[in-house]
Amino acid sequence: MKFSIASLYYILGPVLLMHLSCDRIPEKNKKDFRDSYRTWEVYGGDLKGTHYSELDQINRNNVAQLGVAWQYHTGDMKTSPATTIQCNPIIVKGVMYITTPGLKAVALDAETGEELWVYNPWEGKLGSGVSRGLTYWSDGVDQRLFYGVGNYLHALDAKTGTLSDGFGIDGKLDLRTGLDRQTLEYVSSKTPGIIYKDLLIIGSAVGEGPSPGAPGHIRAYDVRTGQRKWIFHTIPQLGEYGYETWSSDSWKTNGGANSWGNFTLDSERGLVFFGTGSPSYDHWGGNRIGDNLFGNCIMALNAETGERVWHYQVVHHDLWDYDIPCAPALVTLTKDGQEIDAVAQPTKMGHLFVLDRDTGEPIFPVEEKSVPQSEIPGEVSSPTQPFPIPSLVYADQGFNADDITDLNTHARDYVKETVKNMEMGGVFTPPGTKPLVILPQFNGGSEWPGAAFDPQTNTLIVNASNEAEWISMKKSRVTKETSLGELGKQIFQSTCTHCHSMADKNLGIASAVPNLEGLKNRMSKDQMQSLLIEGRGQMPSFKSLTESERKALVAYIFGEGEEEKVVTDDLKNTWRDQIPYVSTGHWDFRDPEGFPVNKRPWGTLNAIDLNKGEIKWQVPLGTYPALEAKGIPPTGTFNIGGPVVTAGGLIFIGATRDERMHAYDKDTGELLWEFQMDTGGYATPSTYEINGRQYIVIAAGGGGKPGTKPGDSYYCFALPQ
Ligand code: HEC
Repeated sequence: MKFSIASLYYILGPVLLMHLSCDRIPEKNKKDFRDSYRTWEVYGGDLKGTHYSELDQINRNNVAQLGVAWQYHTGDMKTSPATTIQCNPIIVKGVMYITTPGLKAVALDAETGEELWVYNPWEGKLGSGVSRGLTYWSDGVDQRLFYGVGNYLHALDAKTGTLSDGFGIDGKLDLRTGLDRQTLEYVSSKTPGIIYKDLLIIGSAVGEGPSPGAPGHIRAYDVRTGQRKWIFHTIPQLGEYGYETWSSDSWKTNGGANSWGNFTLDSERGLVFFGTGSPSYDHWGGNRIGDNLFGNCIMALNAETGERVWHYQVVHHDLWDYDIPCAPALVTLTKDGQEIDAVAQPTKMGHLFVLDRDTGEPIFPVEEKSVPQSEIPGEVSSPTQPFPIPSLVYADQGFNADDITDLNTHARDYVKETVKNMEMGGVFTPPGTKPLVILPQFNGGSEWPGAAFDPQTNTLIVNASNEAEWISMKKSRVTKETSLGELGKQIFQSTCTHCHSMADKNLGIASAVPNLEGLKNRMSKDQMQSLLIEGRGQMPSFKSLTESERKALVAYIFGEGEEEKVVTDDLKNTWRDQIPYVSTGHWDFRDPEGFPVNKRPWGTLNAIDLNKGEIKWQVPLGTYPALEAKGIPPTGTFNIGGPVVTAGGLIFIGATRDERMHAYDKDTGELLWEFQMDTGGYATPSTYEINGRQYIVIAAGGGGKPGTKPGDSYYCFALPQ
């Protein structure tokens, strides 16, 4: 080893750490120096993805005094479409690196929030998108940051915020190239990759719609040059393991099976871990018959070579978009007196999978159970799906008559009537042509922020949502004979009729949902067009329908369009010939006042004892202020944003639609402190220490899927000095 400052750090790091480590933490859970529980240099806190901090200056006794130390405004949010911030800030040697709603990268003085530099990837123009943060690498001399913007990975000099010389082309790498398959579709990297030695390992976000998306292969690049060092085909090619779990040409045409969440790394074992998403197209798999390895898999690869070590599939032949949204957390637990290194994987289904880290074998029983089968022509759904033991299930598992909201009689009656025209069922009920109430919805259960692991108690902290949506399937092929009005009728029947009735019969829900009979006397065609785009109150937006589909709907409602023929090629969707059935989208399903249609809690925070494999406590996470004002106890809300757990006995989490930051007692789930931010914190906080003071920072970017107002700031909290 060449002697450098970095190598000194390698040698001294563990020695220094030993003095700081808490004795109660089992030996196995202690980290190498890059994995310090006192810093936050890596997305999710450390390479193991634990979101855990040993810092305890802020603790149960004083958390009530926590206040804002500084707030930084990025100044580049947009309201239409609303932007969001999903970034988990990293802090390296007193400097905080963040991304903005406009996808700029910014360096701040982590103590004061003062801006050090700003990098604008758009070369003066404006842009926006999603970024969950940056990856930091240093060899002791060079310091680099990596993050994705659009189809490009950008490499920056961490000291100056300028593009790194010698990486890719002028500091950028086109992610659509080097996939071992020609693709013109978008390939972006929204969640930070992970560093192993001098490799940057990344996944991708790719198209999941009916048109052929890019494959989600995993790649490792030389951090200095951007040269591709290895690739792992998540859709196996001819002759590769798993090829036979697809249709024979899937590897050439189907996309997805991508890891769009983060990675975790066991540097001692040299293993990199991640979860993969569903194969595309998300909701019809007649052209990908089989289990579809390595879609929806928890995976371990050799970090040096990219070779598969093990995989574990949590959804066979996905029809729901139940992607594994995050990497598993690397944990150690004690079972039958034995210490076991494991991985703990939260999922959108609210199923927790705990697997042996070396073999991928489940540590607690998992049962393959029969599930309902799809009736969509051409579909071959999987006869069974894996279910963990009930004590490891932490989200609602389906929607039936018993699950209808009990918030008030009006809401209950409305939902009871509405679901008469819909399908209901347990988790893994496949979508059909009749609208299906779906719970957990495709945003979970859990989402991309993942869980936190408390190594002092071997407890996993994970938040979950329980707000139902609905989905249905429709025929995508339109014959040349069809008239515009007929097309409109088809779409109306599959997408609108469980709320609206065209006939003059009273569905009993007319008070909340207007009958559309005689609409032309109240509204112009243009007004109806914009209503379909914008939505209004409980009428959802149907922005994702094509313009022709909206035109057809208007024609049908206005009793026109009998004459006008629809030619298939007129429609934007040229995929109609390959994918015969498409979904009408996932839609929010709410009562007349806008609250979820299922019973509370609508969002939870869970502590799961990994030694016992059971939930220790579960509390509602967040509330609806309008219900709170009426004296209704916390209801929980849909939530996106991860927890952080500390040796101070606390769990910090934003995530909720009430736009608050919270601190909970990690032993009991008691809410000890909350703070009303200007906008929602739909991101994971980071905690760090500078000059003896502990800070907690969270992005309050609002917007996003929770759909509250957008914001542009980072809040940094500390105790008063
Ligand atoms: C989840 C239930 C729901 C679904 C699904 C739904 N709507 Fe609505 N719609 C409503 C509600 C509720 C209103 C009243 C909105 C308001 O003004 O607050 C409404 C209003 C409307 C109006 C205005 C009626 C008027 O008299 O002002 C039109 C037009 C309309 N919807 C068309 C559609 C079409 C077309 C679809 C299918 C693409 C659809 N809706 C799907 C609930 C729904």
